[in-house]
Amino acid sequence: MSERDPAAGDPAGPPEEDPRIRGEKHPVARMIALGIVLSLIGIAIALLIDWFPVSAAGSADEIDTVYDVLLICSVPVFILVMTVAIYSVVRFRAKPGDMRDGAPIHGNTRLEVVWVTIPFLMVTALAIYGWIVLDDLEAKQPNTLIVNVTGQQFTWSFDYPSEKVKSNELVLPKDRPVEFRIHTKDVLHSFWVPEFRLKSDAVPGLTTKIRLTPDRIGRYQVVCAELCGIGHSTMRQNVRVVATADFDSWLDDQKQAAAPPSGEAEGGGGETGGGGGGAGGDGAAVFAANGCASCHTFKPANATGTVGPDLDEIATPTAAFIRQSIVDPNKEVEEGFSPGIMPQDFGDKLSPDELDALVEYLLKAQK
Ligand code: CUA
Repeated sequence: MSERDPAAGDPAGPPEEDPRIRGEKHPVARMIALGIVLSLIGIAIALLIDWFPVSAAGSADEIDTVYDVLLICSVPVFILVMTVAIYSVVRFRAKPGDMRDGAPIHGNTRLEVVWVTIPFLMVTALAIYGWIVLDDLEAKQPNTLIVNVTGQQFTWSFDYPSEKVKSNELVLPKDRPVEFRIHTKDVLHSFWVPEFRLKSDAVPGLTTKIRLTPDRIGRYQVVCAELCGIGHSTMRQNVRVVATADFDSWLDDQKQAAAPPSGEAEGGGGETGGGGGGAGGDGAAVFAANGCASCHTFKPANATGTVGPDLDEIATPTAAFIRQSIVDPNKEVEEGFSPGIMPQDFGDKLSPDELDALVEYLLKAQK
């Protein structure tokens, strides 16, 4: 491994042998043999471990195979590096009182060429393999359902543009290709359903895409996989994969729920002071659509968040205070909570009607 190696062809003959390795016949051969045995054991352990949740999309099997190939390639590299490092630490450790300098080694061209070339070839091959798999998974398919995914601190919302349906729950028909178009209203988030495997960042100003085909009926969760603020870990939402007929009836239910109730025409919505019951209902919808539940506890909405204050017992239960807390949350922060955590742009995001409805909804529930 050094220029002391007689095979390196020093014209002056082998230099004085280091007493610490005197008598070692073939340390390199022994390390290689040990490395191969440990690598096989390591690969066996790595493949035996069940790393993944159930697979609920056609893409999952191919991605799991990529992951297994990566493990098979990385375990021997890890073992090789650790074997050489541990062997060297143990074998060449200076004895107490040994104050000699180390040998003046300037490099080993052959070794350097080897340790640059082999990783280069491995990484290039793996990148090409990964690209081929991803390109295959992302191929456009007929009859694709488009779903707009929007992340915001700290919730996800979903919108089915072809159906004009919006929802806080992600419902998908089994065996139909889906294209997610991912957006964010504020900071970076990352849209991830572990059972689907694919993951994509939600980047301000960009629309990122994921295509996949759910193939297993069940309930899963969207997880935010990018640290986005204090409520990051609460940024989870339900995903349901259902049979096509169930999906269609769910869409119909959503459309009916969104339609204005009979008797109250569009014009009625403008007069928020008038229909008390109607405005309260709107307030609940505004509360749900803006992700308030991920941070606040509020019994009428079955919300149990703990990032922000409990809205069942607002410190100053007046309309003016509630309104200020929504549009300018840093002005007065409840004791025990920090400023800057509640998004400060609800004043821009909410229309005046929505804001009125939300304030009324919260105020009504106060004792
Ligand atoms: Cu959104 Cu983490």
